[in-house]
Amino acid sequence: MRAEEAGSSAARDAARAAEPAVRRVEREARPGAPDSVSRAKPAPACAFVIFGVTGDLTGRKLIPALYQLAAKGELNEGSVIVGHARREMTDDELRAYLRDKVAAEVPDLDAGVWERLAARISYVQGDYESADGFVRLAQKLAGLDVAGTIFYTATPPEVYATIARSLAEAGLARPAPGRFARLVVEKPFGTDEASAKELNALLLEHFDESQLFRIDHYLAKETAQNLGVLRFANSMFEPVWNNRYVDHVQITMIEPMGMEGRGRFYESAGVLRDVFQNHLLQLLALMAMEPPVRFDARAVRDEKVKLFSAVSCPSPADTVFGQYVAGNGAVGYRQEKDVDPNSKQATYAAMQLRVENWRWSGVPFYLRSGKRLEAKASEIVLQFKAPPHVPFALSAPVHADRLVMRIMPDEGMTIRFNGKRPGQKVELDRIGLDFSYGESFAGAIPDAYETLILDVMNGDATLFMRADEVEAQWRIVAPVLAYLEERRPTPAFYEAGGRGPQQAYALLESAGREWKRPAGVRRGD
Ligand SMILES: NC(=O)c1ccc[n+]([C@@H]2O[C@H](COP(=O)([O-])OP(=O)(O)OC[C@H]3O[C@@H](n4cnc5c(N)ncnc54)[C@H](OP(=O)(O)O)[C@@H]3O)[C@@H](O)[C@H]2O)c1
Repeated sequence: MRAEEAGSSAARDAARAAEPAVRRVEREARPGAPDSVSRAKPAPACAFVIFGVTGDLTGRKLIPALYQLAAKGELNEGSVIVGHARREMTDDELRAYLRDKVAAEVPDLDAGVWERLAARISYVQGDYESADGFVRLAQKLAGLDVAGTIFYTATPPEVYATIARSLAEAGLARPAPGRFARLVVEKPFGTDEASAKELNALLLEHFDESQLFRIDHYLAKETAQNLGVLRFANSMFEPVWNNRYVDHVQITMIEPMGMEGRGRFYESAGVLRDVFQNHLLQLLALMAMEPPVRFDARAVRDEKVKLFSAVSCPSPADTVFGQYVAGNGAVGYRQEKDVDPNSKQATYAAMQLRVENWRWSGVPFYLRSGKRLEAKASEIVLQFKAPPHVPFALSAPVHADRLVMRIMPDEGMTIRFNGKRPGQKVELDRIGLDFSYGESFAGAIPDAYETLILDVMNGDATLFMRADEVEAQWRIVAPVLAYLEERRPTPAFYEAGGRGPQQAYALLESAGREWKRPAGVRRGD
């Protein structure tokens, strides 16, 4: 009787989870409202299995996100968390270990919320190669009254495919009728097009595409999501969102951090694999894709893949690669731990891409990203063309208008345009309209991982990458990766804590353009 009841409630939850995906914004946000951050739809009860539960990602992102969801009442009370890793540990030891991790991320940790969440955490020890741990995991999951299971690979990427195979061998890849089984795959997804294809093929041997959730957490950031709303829920932007009005687009993602112990990883990845192939290209897609008929997983991902197929691969002449040297109290890349003292790995890249379609033909897209730079900033700039004719007698040329979407810091948007300075003469000044999430909406902005975890629980894959999408992204960077790996060019060196290599500025200056200084560097330009 109990099992039957469990089955029917699980089936109801699963059916709810399988409903057509509807993106969040469930109630209209009211500026100034006590808590105007919209709530996601309630998630069904799940078993959330974390492979790599003792790792950095779990401690800094996953468990804090689950804690925040629990604190907001968005985590179904029937959900449980099952941690998996190689080391021996009791359930209580894992709980204590994770408590310290969450406390480090959430200064005002609510002991009551944590205790209720901790009571639902348990541990299974095992190695990904050996069947024993998966058998124990299957036994633990078999007795749970949940709508489905989510397997999260917070492990080294080399074991993603092994985990998928071991889950299948333990009978966990195919859910019982009325339930779901989903596999979340962390980044990096492959190291080039061939390895991404191979990984897709291995995963698809055991799971259907509808069960796979490939993460790019950048897609879940508020401003990235707002890009879709800005473009497709307003009528004033779309008419100018094309080559008739836009001169060029800039996408910038810079940070002051160096290797922070990730030297070994970075030596094999470099900036192209670390952020260009995924985050920057995803932002490009959201910014440039055609309007989808619905904002759901299928339609949005179809449009992104279409957009990627129109992106021309950058030529070496349109790229600049840099590497930081010591400066402003920081060591250079070659002096970082686990880095070859003669390494030519790029810690910075700037490039020009073209989107060869009706909307964007002739509009350059400039992308740049780097480590150990003067600020942490991530933003998209739409630089409009100058007006075709200015009927005022002015002493200086007018500035062209600009729309800046800030992903961080100070998530929001600014429109810069020309206005008349008060007085008898017509003199122009650059003025701006500014929207800041922090000022317009009360309530903390949810971390990207909170959004992603809820989406997986709800079966909404809109913010996750499809197999063909991730392969298309690798195809775009493939020629540049090949150039770097075959020719091994000496990077343009730049000072740690500075603006990046001069050559990156020359890339735009040679076309009569300039990089906008990111928000975190100097406001108001
Ligand atoms: N950290 C981040 O901020 C971040 C951001 C984005 C993406 N990612 C991705 O997330 C994944 C995890 O990164 P991380 O930084 O958390 O790595 P990590 O700190 O090295 O943790 C790896 C985890 O996997 C476990 N593990 C490793 N090999 C195992 C094996 N053969 N069998 C069983 N368990 C094994 C480790 O636990 P034991 O040693 O106890 O077994 C540990 O819990 C990586 O793919 C990374 O690229 C991380």
